Amino acid sequence: MIGRLNHVAIAVPDLDAAARQYADTLGARVGAPQAEPEHGVTVIFIELPNTKVELLHPLGEGSPIAGFLEKNPSGGIHHICYEVDDITRARDQLQASGARVLGDGTPKIGAHGKPVLFLHPKDFTGTLIELEQV
Ligand code: CO
Repeated sequence: MIGRLNHVAIAVPDLDAAARQYADTLGARVGAPQAEPEHGVTVIFIELPNTKVELLHPLGEGSPIAGFLEKNPSGGIHHICYEVDDITRARDQLQASGARVLGDGTPKIGAHGKPVLFLHPKDFTGTLIELEQV
C-alpha cells in the first residue's frame, strides 16, 4: 500500500537555528520559511536526494504542533509521510484492519496541495503517520 517516503517532519522550537544547522553543519539545501496559516505552521523544506525533511514551527493560535513542542521543548520528529496511490482506498483498507484515522476520516488538502490523512500513533508503534496521495 505505502510507497516512497515523502518527508520526515521535525518540530523545532527555533526555526532559524534549525535551518542554519541543516545548511551549515549538515550541508543540506535549505529553502526559505513558508507560512502556512491554514495548517498552523511555518515550514522550511529541505530537499535531500531521495526525500525531504520539513522543519515545522507553530504559527498562530492553536497550532497542531504546539502541544508536541510543550512535551518536547528541544524539538523532535513529529511525523513521517508515506506516499499512496489512492488515499480513499488506503483509508478503507486501514480502517477495515482496525487502524484509527485521525479526524473525521475525510482526506484534507495538505501542505503540498495534495490529499492527506493522519493515522493514530498508538496504532503504529508510537509514530504519527501521514499518508499523501501523489
Ligand atoms: Co507532513
